[in-house]
Amino acid sequence: MTDQTTTHSGRSLTAIVLAAGKGTRMRSDLPKVLHAVAGRSMLGHVLAAARGAGANRIAVVVEPGQEAVAREIDALAPGAGIHPQAERLGTAHAVLAARAALEAGDDDVVIAFGDTPLITAATLARLRAPLAQGCAVAVLAFETPNPKGYGRVLVQGGRVAAIREEKDADEAERAVTLCNAGLMALAGRHALDLLARIGNANAAGEYYLPDAVGLAVADGLGVAVVDVAEEEAQGVNDRVQLGIAEAALQRRLRRAAQVAGATLVAPETVFLSHDTRLGRDVVVEPHVVFGPGVTVGDGCVVHAFSHLEGATLAAGVSVGPYARLRPGAVLETGARVGNFVEIKNARLEAGAKANHLTYLGDAVVGAGANVGAGTITCNYDGVNKHRTIIGAGAFIGSNTALVAPVSVGAGAIVGAGSVIATDVAADALAVARARQRSIPDWAPGRRAALEAEKAARARKP
Ligand code: UD1
Ligand code: MG
Repeated sequence: MTDQTTTHSGRSLTAIVLAAGKGTRMRSDLPKVLHAVAGRSMLGHVLAAARGAGANRIAVVVEPGQEAVAREIDALAPGAGIHPQAERLGTAHAVLAARAALEAGDDDVVIAFGDTPLITAATLARLRAPLAQGCAVAVLAFETPNPKGYGRVLVQGGRVAAIREEKDADEAERAVTLCNAGLMALAGRHALDLLARIGNANAAGEYYLPDAVGLAVADGLGVAVVDVAEEEAQGVNDRVQLGIAEAALQRRLRRAAQVAGATLVAPETVFLSHDTRLGRDVVVEPHVVFGPGVTVGDGCVVHAFSHLEGATLAAGVSVGPYARLRPGAVLETGARVGNFVEIKNARLEAGAKANHLTYLGDAVVGAGANVGAGTITCNYDGVNKHRTIIGAGAFIGSNTALVAPVSVGAGAIVGAGSVIATDVAADALAVARARQRSIPDWAPGRRAALEAEKAARARKP
């Protein structure tokens, strides 16, 4: 829900996203900013928020050599600049790695962090708003009873004076509870000058971006403080914080789904992705997982313990309990998918049913067709995938194997237990199983023989 477009006053905006850093405490082969929350990388969330805040130019500062990060940027924000920061010398130094973007001369610059995925487009838009009023710098800040580790926003005579990093703060400054969230907006016409004058004479020997505040104040330029909830500004440095961010994002997504008219029977057990779309009067029962790319139409019911990803459900569809919809599952109006049914890259047209114990892969099931319990599309020959086409109104008997490529015509009936390897014409009956043989009065004799054998064994020592 971070992608909402926000109005701005026709001013151009560069967003600089700081994403350098190995993220050592993640203990991972994956670069930190590529770890996912709610089905999208942290970097992806921040890029979406930047777009949503109106950024016409995006520059990402990256750790040199992290090819996977560059690929993610190209995929999610094509055209964004990628700027390696050769040495990690501080946040102001990192911003200057994107000097080319600053030199492009946009009106506003916002600086976000790639490991702060809860930040919303709306907050970035609020952060830049004071620039349109003539401020040179806007800092995002929150009040917290536990400010340890954060830079403190120092206020004198009701005005912001500076930001002091924890390491450099004296005792009185450490008692300040107004904290710098780290994200900042700079007026484009002052940005390069302020950044170039930031030095590194501090406890960490780093170029601190928040020093832009003190410099702007000394120049008599306007500095604004924009408030934010601490949760939204939370950074992720390890897997514990990743879990905390996930939980916070899930709460936000569930709430948005509820507000939009979906019933989540047990909200805390439903897991959504950043792009999950639930229509009006959708009911989601407990313990349902939505992976990325799911759209659920009005009035659908998703029963308990179902797992959906890359699936599109039209209105009035029923799924589960215990259903698995994989990418490319398309269920048209009123289709029904029951328990222990897996659907992959397959379309069920209006009113089609697959209610029990079935696998449909690379298939089309025509309108109103009924797929019996235990039906399997044998779509894979070990090398290639093949398609199965079932016509409208066809009836597939239970425990049928459909050996693709194969088609069953409209209105045809397939007898239970069939292995269908050649096409079935419309309205035909196809039965492909051994013919049944019944022998009258055969069973009692067989039972008597078995019991006699057992008695003989018992008499032997
Ligand atoms: C920063 C702020 C602090 C604020 C806090 C909020 C500074 C100096 N301090 O501290 O006031 O309260 O965030 O969480 O800015 N980065 C680079 N290159 C660098 C250094 C950092 O790309 O050379 C990136 C990091 O990947 C990260 C972000 O900048 O995404 C912030 O850096 P971090 O080291 O986490 O700063 P903090 O010490 O948390
Ligand atoms: Mg940090």
